Amino acid sequence: MKSGREKRVAVFPGSFDPMTNGHLDILERSLEIFDRVIVAIAFNAAKDSALFSVDERLEMIREVTRSPRVVADAFSGLLVDYVERSKASAIVRGLRAVADFEYEFQMAMMNRHLRPRIETIFIMASEAHFYTSSRLVKEVATLGGDVTGLVPERVRRKLLRKVTEKKAR
Ligand code: PNS
Repeated sequence: MKSGREKRVAVFPGSFDPMTNGHLDILERSLEIFDRVIVAIAFNAAKDSALFSVDERLEMIREVTRSPRVVADAFSGLLVDYVERSKASAIVRGLRAVADFEYEFQMAMMNRHLRPRIETIFIMASEAHFYTSSRLVKEVATLGGDVTGLVPERVRRKLLRKVTEKKAR
């Protein structure tokens, strides 16, 4: 980290329900570019259909990201407002298959429309994580499939506990 200049801060936003190894890969790559990365859970108190609560998700992110240059946080409302409040200059998003592009492009352009000075930086996920998504990981775990290697071990254990609890309800 250089001194004598402003630190480069990025926000890595998402649902992180839960954080996967794909997210961790993007986070590690973004730390090569930025001095500090804020992993920011976007939530909507009125209609949050997530499996894990915001606090559970924050705890998991903190457990699996040990770098002092990573901060876990949560926000509601517009991402660009949060980026501004955080004094960050960029939004980091991961890109996997081509299928991600349309949705990501729309969001990036909307965010640019709202705040032209905030850049969205896309980072390519490693091939190993091209098909990893929180949605699929949850589905596989719910249906009894093995998610080893797709999420950090601590997350895997919490996910199994959560889906078992959900089934028992
Ligand atoms: O992990 P996800 O669910 O693909 O992340 C989507 C996220 C959280 C980045 C997006 O929904 C978002 O930015 N939400 C905050 C609300 C907002 O700013 N919406 C307008 C985005 S163009």
